[in-house]
Amino acid sequence: MKTTLIALAAALTLAAPLAQAQGSSGKLKIGLMLPSSGTYAALGTAIENGFKLYVAEHGGKLGGRELEYVSVDDESDPSKATDNVNKLVKRDKVDVLIGTVHSGVAMGMAKVAKDSGTLLIVPNAGADAVTGPMCAVNIFRSSFSNWQPGYAMGEAMAKKGIKTAVSITWKYAAGDESVKGFKEAFEKGGGKVVKELTVPFPGVEFQALLTEIAATKPGAVYTFFAGGGAVKFVKDYAAAGLKKSIPLYGAGFLTDGTLDAQGAAADGLVTALHYGDGLTVPRDASFRLAYAKTYKLQPDVYAVQGYDAAQILGIGLAAVKGDVSKKAEFAAAVQKAKIDSPRGAFSLSRSHNPVQDIYLRQVVGKENKVIGVASKALADPARGCRM
Ligand code: BEZ
Repeated sequence: MKTTLIALAAALTLAAPLAQAQGSSGKLKIGLMLPSSGTYAALGTAIENGFKLYVAEHGGKLGGRELEYVSVDDESDPSKATDNVNKLVKRDKVDVLIGTVHSGVAMGMAKVAKDSGTLLIVPNAGADAVTGPMCAVNIFRSSFSNWQPGYAMGEAMAKKGIKTAVSITWKYAAGDESVKGFKEAFEKGGGKVVKELTVPFPGVEFQALLTEIAATKPGAVYTFFAGGGAVKFVKDYAAAGLKKSIPLYGAGFLTDGTLDAQGAAADGLVTALHYGDGLTVPRDASFRLAYAKTYKLQPDVYAVQGYDAAQILGIGLAAVKGDVSKKAEFAAAVQKAKIDSPRGAFSLSRSHNPVQDIYLRQVVGKENKVIGVASKALADPARGCRM
């Protein structure tokens, strides 16, 4: 018995440094949870492209560790989110989670990340809760909160002297929160939201609601749609003859990565977003060249967010020498960094959400031309974040 105990103690003494070493050496397993089907499929691809471009520019390694990937198509389906993320964390034992696009799915990911302590970087989904009540030392976002572009567009529309607006969006967190941010600023600036219209996600049956907008005759319409749904909405709005009589505005997802498919229906639309065409940011020029060369495609906001998710991971990993278990040190390094993004340099707030300029853009041909800054260094209020 005594010999067995001594042998066990010796084995444990040997195992301890081994376990420590495993935290910072060997391949780093990245769980990529993104949509590769459904209305947000193209957004998922752009994020993955951007992420992998940054990694390739760094020789396939971040923080001294080679990366390997396990991918899951989350289908932008919140009902499958917990199962999907648990597969990555419990079965595949990933070190880092990167995902996702859809706010409802991201909230499922954030819950599992918070409970398991797995590092999570959100490269799109704007769910306010992720950097609000769910904020945590191991959760970061490289994109935006839903409140941010909505609030900036509301300020800009009120400043233009628009007095009344109807909102129309998908009925889920991203749409609801985008409209809430818009309404907060628009009404603070003297405007009034006279009607809030919604369709279920990812539905694209807009006709009845377009008829209602025409009958209401507001000064303008504010909208949140993205991906395939945004293409259909912009086309339907123009086809209904509303574009000339009731100006359409939106969070910039309405026209980002969608212009080829929207064609002339998108011409002249004004939106607000943290990226656009024609920025004079040196990092943007080199990023665009590299992206176009690698993927034979022009990048969009989603590609930038994927690229910056990899940058954030790289900054944190360098500080902890590849050891993701050192969460506080990882977070401290990321929080004091200036992220050299193609959108322009930004930093992360105490709740780990980008503090960033929100640009006003106007569609000219196949570009979202930046025509001004709607809101400078806009920080999400991070309501409910206790960290
Ligand atoms: C979201 O669900 O948070 C979202 C999806 C697409 C574009 C922007 C936001």
